[in-house]
Amino acid sequence: MATLAINGGPKLREQGWPQWPPDDPGFLENLKAVLDSGVWGTGGEWTQRATQMMCEFHGAQYGVALSSGTTALDVALRSVGVKPGSEVIVPPYTFIATASSVISVGAIPIFVDIDPDTFNLDPTKIEDAITEHTSAIIAVHIGGSPAAMDEIMAIARAHGLKVVEDCAQAHGAIYKGRRIGAIGDAGAFSFQSSKNVTSGEGGMVLTNDADVFSRSWSIHNCGRVPEGEWYDHRVMGWNHRLTQFQGALICRCMELLPEQFERRARNGDHLRERLQEIEGIELQKLTDPSNVSAFHLYIFKYDAAAFDGLSRDRFLQALAAEGIGAARGYNPLYREGVFADNVHMDEFPFAPRYYAGDVDYAQVSCPACEHICDAGGFWMPQRYGLADEQAMDDIVDAMIKIRDNLGELKEA
Ligand SMILES: Cc1ncc(COP(=O)(O)O)c(C=O)c1O
Repeated sequence: MATLAINGGPKLREQGWPQWPPDDPGFLENLKAVLDSGVWGTGGEWTQRATQMMCEFHGAQYGVALSSGTTALDVALRSVGVKPGSEVIVPPYTFIATASSVISVGAIPIFVDIDPDTFNLDPTKIEDAITEHTSAIIAVHIGGSPAAMDEIMAIARAHGLKVVEDCAQAHGAIYKGRRIGAIGDAGAFSFQSSKNVTSGEGGMVLTNDADVFSRSWSIHNCGRVPEGEWYDHRVMGWNHRLTQFQGALICRCMELLPEQFERRARNGDHLRERLQEIEGIELQKLTDPSNVSAFHLYIFKYDAAAFDGLSRDRFLQALAAEGIGAARGYNPLYREGVFADNVHMDEFPFAPRYYAGDVDYAQVSCPACEHICDAGGFWMPQRYGLADEQAMDDIVDAMIKIRDNLGELKEA
């Protein structure tokens, strides 16, 4: 008789997983307050309050609430002074917006490989990619685990580059005792539905630099300046404002975040500990042992050799059947059609006018990222981390069950 659920055996975990966003009466209370206030957009208090809460939590002096994380990256890049035709160093193991925001400001994404254990930008590979055109580095805290900020900042300062932190997945994450977001010149956050703090859609730039703040504020508010009149547009800007309804949802999320952050971290520690029982699977390594990941994703490294050659994708099928869903994750960004096929190159704002270089993304090779994407990595979403310790045990026990019954998968 089959033992593995994929072959008709009993499922290891029958129980479901926590829902996201959580069921909490505070959301409705806040939304009703906005509705009743009659101020749904500009001039309301909720986006301001949300911004203040984000600033306080992350130790940042200034913040600007925005319509999405993609917009936050765009605004951050413009505000730190990235110019059309310059190059911006980005990792290829991230969401498309990290690179497409660079394109949208007229600059050129230059992909630098990730560290195969931390899944974050490999700082030892950055300097080789710096040219006379380089203007900035985007440090993505992937999965919520902080990038190697000390090394990245040191390289950036030595070469006169700006650093934008992509914090879309990293609300509250701690790097060497300090929360991320304002370690670099600007931090870009997302409040999209899946994120650890959400308002359905939304974003925010945090910074400790008064000039970066002032530019971000103007860019997001049609080029106005704080001391100016309503019809006084001194900076090139757009309407990237967040509604008060979204501000109200963020405020409630920020109240819930500390407990959720602790729970995800506690569960992450337990998972890491128990995974020591399984050769061939480990959790994303921290760039410093003192760091605390926000665990937006529980990212795992998978070594098929330790599973008798069982492919990652077949392993994930067997795991899903046991009641543990996991995703294979990203493609290396430079392999996405928009880059690899160069089909839209002539539409890229930099193409003929600003950039003398030659970009052929089909030639880019980042072996560590390719291995993780093709065969060696997978992840589980943050709502899994809101479950209890038993759920973490179920994850590991399901993996052990598969390892101990590999013969069944071979025969199947
Ligand atoms: C790493 C990263 N950067 C940027 C973004 C873009 O955020 P948004 O979806 O709010 O535009 C995301 C969202 O998935 C992300 O994961």
